[in-house]
Amino acid sequence: MDIFKRRHGAPKRKDDRVVLHFDYDCFYASVFENQNPALKSLPLGVKQKGILATCNYAARARGVKKLMLISEAKKLCPELVIVEGEDLTPFRDASKKLYSFLRSHSWNQKIERLGLDEVFMDVTDMIDYNISLLNRSSLSDSFFCLSKENPESGFPCDLTRFAGCVHGSLPVPPPLEVPVYVRLLLASHLAWYLRLQLEDRFGYSSSCGVSTNKLLSKLAGSKHKPRNQTTLLSLDDDVVLGFVDSHAIRKIPGMGAKTTRLLEQRLLSKGTEVSSLDSESTLTVNAVRVHPDISPSSLETLLGGPGSEQGVGLRVWHLLHGVDDTEVKEASDFPTQISIEDTYRGLNSLTQIDEELRKLSASLVRRMRMDLLTEDKPTEHGTSNQRWMAHPKTLRLSIRSWPAKSEMPDWDFSRTSRSQPLPNFVFSLRESVEAIAERLTSDILFPMLKRFHPEKNHKWDLQLINVCVANMAPSGSQAGTNVGRDISIMFKRQDDVLRQWKADTGFIGQEDCLRAEAVAVSEQGYGSGDGDDDVEILWEGEDGTAKCAQCGYSIPLFAVPAHARYHDLGD
Ligand code: TTP
Ligand code: MG
Repeated sequence: MDIFKRRHGAPKRKDDRVVLHFDYDCFYASVFENQNPALKSLPLGVKQKGILATCNYAARARGVKKLMLISEAKKLCPELVIVEGEDLTPFRDASKKLYSFLRSHSWNQKIERLGLDEVFMDVTDMIDYNISLLNRSSLSDSFFCLSKENPESGFPCDLTRFAGCVHGSLPVPPPLEVPVYVRLLLASHLAWYLRLQLEDRFGYSSSCGVSTNKLLSKLAGSKHKPRNQTTLLSLDDDVVLGFVDSHAIRKIPGMGAKTTRLLEQRLLSKGTEVSSLDSESTLTVNAVRVHPDISPSSLETLLGGPGSEQGVGLRVWHLLHGVDDTEVKEASDFPTQISIEDTYRGLNSLTQIDEELRKLSASLVRRMRMDLLTEDKPTEHGTSNQRWMAHPKTLRLSIRSWPAKSEMPDWDFSRTSRSQPLPNFVFSLRESVEAIAERLTSDILFPMLKRFHPEKNHKWDLQLINVCVANMAPSGSQAGTNVGRDISIMFKRQDDVLRQWKADTGFIGQEDCLRAEAVAVSEQGYGSGDGDDDVEILWEGEDGTAKCAQCGYSIPLFAVPAHARYHDLGD
């Protein structure tokens, strides 16, 4: 069987966009290295809840890996320097700074953050403009223009070659009459320039993928890491199919945990040839794509049904072929939802739960004020008005319980949620954060929580509580525009809110920091489309590890909450 064969009914890929995908190298470790450059030459690990959230490349060269137990990492590399990474504030701040820089280079504002360390950027308009200026007789002396208004703003580049790595063979002579070739050629230089700036100005190296849609650019970017970039030269369909085919299904962004599991159950149980599976016995894209039982309609039958996304069969069929028409989302001045959560070894009494709900509500209200309030410019009398840029309409409470021992191997890791309209009193600026949090807990959240288990003698054993406001409605002048608020006012506001909070609570101990900063300002993921089961973990049972069905990592059981929290950051 020709493994790259194009099947009857294969969807056609559109190649008229250019999408860059940036992923910062060993991000949390780089944040510490930038704070203390002496760490750069040492093997460095960032610790969260007893495991390594990440480690730098000096540590990776000694065999240390992300999500390893500290004790295991120390055995491999006794000189490993370990820093505490529970407080997410520095990572969030660095992420915002880098994103703002990239955003300042976007013309169409199609620039989307994925979690804290990944950014998609649709640069089609900049590329097409530069193609219109191209002097084909002196390609080695080209100039990439970064501004339509200022022709001097830009950088010189040599367009006789691609910048960075290329996947797919380079035709000789270069097919300059083929639009996708020229677009990707220019885009590789833009990506190189932006990566260089991120490193020179801010000290962050990154990897980047250059392609014609989000799926392909994300996959391409992971081919040469760290500190490099890969352009997927999609001149030939077979190159794209072969590239996507080689990935395990669970590495395909947008595929989702449930989809992966259902496909694995279906195709592995049907005696799929071992040769078409990778070494971990996970299913490859190729094994699914060319399987005679797989078609858009069979996928719809397998994956569709009550509660599932409409047209899921066709969407997955497209992904298997490297087709992804989803747009890079436009930058917004406020997040699409704000959610606060914490994980617990087990919350057993309603008194404990009530107390935690109060803390989470207070963090939520603070975060709403920080992210959603803006100040109009002061009037000539010096007074300024605070106003909400957006009103979230929905309040959602989600919980996850620890399983009873007997349920452990089949524990469904997904969370259960309830939603209701967010009451108006939450927007009051006359009342203190604490007063609002108190009322939100007693009037709304606590009764909502009890409805999860109305039976009298329920034995509570909570592993996670998440409180979230979603369904943002832009208000007033913000509606329908994407005009940035004054960024200096925004930072001043953050300072004010944080200062007020610090003053309120006095010394912020480790625990408080952790709670307050375990804030997931989710940008609504370029996710699985499987909704709440985004953080589902497939349990392997025996060896004390679990496999995350979303990203394929093997995780020690105790590290599961930390890993789930990472995905909740917007993956
Ligand atoms: P990644 O991009 O997966 O990792 P990385 O940036 O550290 O390394 P790489 O060079 O391979 O890109 O995740 C970004 C950050 O998210 C990472 O620095 C630490 C954090 N993280 C967690 O907190 N928990 C997790 O389970 C994972 C995978 C990452
Ligand atoms: Mg990274």
